[in-house]
Amino acid sequence: MEAQQILPRFCPKSSLAPSVPLVKQSFSLMCPPLPSSSSYPSVQSGAFPAISIVRREVCSSSWRRVWCSSSSGAEPKEGHEVTVRRKKLAVFVSGGGSNFRSIHEASKRGSLHGDVLVLVTNKSECGGAEYARNNGIPVILFPKAKDESNGLSPADLVDTLRKFEVDFILLAGYLKLIPAELIRAYQKSILNIHPSLLPAFGGMGYYGMKVHKAVIASGARFSGPTIHFVDEHYDTGRILAQRVVPVLANDTAEELAARVLNEEHQLYVEVVEAVCEERVVWRTDGVPLIQTKENPNEFR
Ligand code: GRF
Repeated sequence: MEAQQILPRFCPKSSLAPSVPLVKQSFSLMCPPLPSSSSYPSVQSGAFPAISIVRREVCSSSWRRVWCSSSSGAEPKEGHEVTVRRKKLAVFVSGGGSNFRSIHEASKRGSLHGDVLVLVTNKSECGGAEYARNNGIPVILFPKAKDESNGLSPADLVDTLRKFEVDFILLAGYLKLIPAELIRAYQKSILNIHPSLLPAFGGMGYYGMKVHKAVIASGARFSGPTIHFVDEHYDTGRILAQRVVPVLANDTAEELAARVLNEEHQLYVEVVEAVCEERVVWRTDGVPLIQTKENPNEFR
């Protein structure tokens, strides 16, 4: 893949663009052609002549990534420096919120370069909302329940998220369709997690245990979570990350769900980590890739 085939680094707001000068970075993005399938293992540049090392320097609200390159055997020479601002996150939930909790805990223990500033839910009494309230995270109800007269419009929701200066929206078991206003306002900045290997077992009506029942009934031998960018339809946005979980011969839907959920917690934290560290790049065909921490020329 030619360096110019990679689009500029994933950047949620145009105001951030000047701090993320991809084209000026010292590393090369030359690597062999990527497989056409969306599920592939990490891609390593065979022809890439240098080893790239990422050094992070942690400070209160931002850290610097210093890309260093060296030809084999030589001492690393300091390359381009990028300051990565700490990101502000909104999480959307409708249920228990175990993915929300694992992301929030990762942030609290310092393994995420971002903070959950606000929780959005359509069910004010759900487990996720309760966890948010117990942890001092503001809860916004959207959309309003049928029996309530007042509620936020999609435009109000966008305004509210802008007031929190939210960079990324993370859907974690949020069962409502995201309004077009929000998709437009947060282009390439809304992620969802789905408990099957999309595009299989996704779309309207595939949620919760229905997904796992359908997987087992189909005879599929593998399932697992998918994290994708969100567009205006259910589960059709570009895939960013997947993890494979075996479907066992005697699995019940509940057993499979538990095995998949365990992987979801790890995968979502890893992906949010990458997003906060600005390690998502876009291929010219619109497929997002995650750079590994160690090497900007190696992708997951
Ligand atoms: C997860 O299985 C996720 O993939 C799906 O909804 C479920 C949410 O679980 N979108 P939790 O509320 O995070 O426990």
